[in-house]
Amino acid sequence: MSKIELIITDNYDEMSQKASEIFIDLLKRKPNAVLGLATGSTPIGLYKKLIEKTKKKEISFKEVITYNLDEYCDIPKNHEQSYFTFMNENFFKHIDIKKINTHIPNGEGNSKFNAENYENDLQKIKIDLQLLGIGSNGHIGFNEPGTDFDIGVHEVQLTENTIKDNARFFNNDINKVPKKAITMGIRNILEADTIILLASGANKAKAIKSVMSGVIDKNVPASALNKHKGKVFVIVDKEAASQI
Ligand code: F6R
Repeated sequence: MSKIELIITDNYDEMSQKASEIFIDLLKRKPNAVLGLATGSTPIGLYKKLIEKTKKKEISFKEVITYNLDEYCDIPKNHEQSYFTFMNENFFKHIDIKKINTHIPNGEGNSKFNAENYENDLQKIKIDLQLLGIGSNGHIGFNEPGTDFDIGVHEVQLTENTIKDNARFFNNDINKVPKKAITMGIRNILEADTIILLASGANKAKAIKSVMSGVIDKNVPASALNKHKGKVFVIVDKEAASQI
């Protein structure tokens, strides 16, 4: 069995609320915390709650430093679906963070060079709290099934499953979804002090079941969280917990 702390909530809003409490607690204790951030549909509710708290001046991101998990390759940084745009639109532009303190892998140009640069940046810091979503195939970041758990930042070919899942952001046209991305590796993710994985909806239930079985399986990248030495919270709604 897993030593991960599982929190099952009634719905998406409660999942976002629980996650926000962990972020708020950290920011109150450590105003210059280093956060690992994720994109996608799942963290939007959490970001909204953190934006509200910032607007009420209950928390501040003035001294916070962030590192995002991943970015698409082969679309420009200012593309409406780049993760750079996502983070600015859904989070950074609404809070008091200094843009210079936000880091997102560079998906433009030479991926090998960009991956090495991001790896070097990560080696200089320690992430206090890493936020993760999970793919329906169990991916974390863009570490697709079969990825070696020991590798760091690298370029990946997205699987057909992920391309299909993400087509909803590209007018449901799979041809428009980038086929490559640059991502933190599982090794980088496991270097964080505390990890929160969020999942909402029945399409995540199978992956969550595998993670919570405690079996470490290369074909379910998120199962690597069972190897983590620090604290791991898996916060899910009822639907995502339905197969546990
Ligand atoms: C995003 C990321 C991905 C997503 C996952 C779930 O930065 O790293 O692993 O967390 O694909 O995406 P959503 O939340 O859209 O279901």
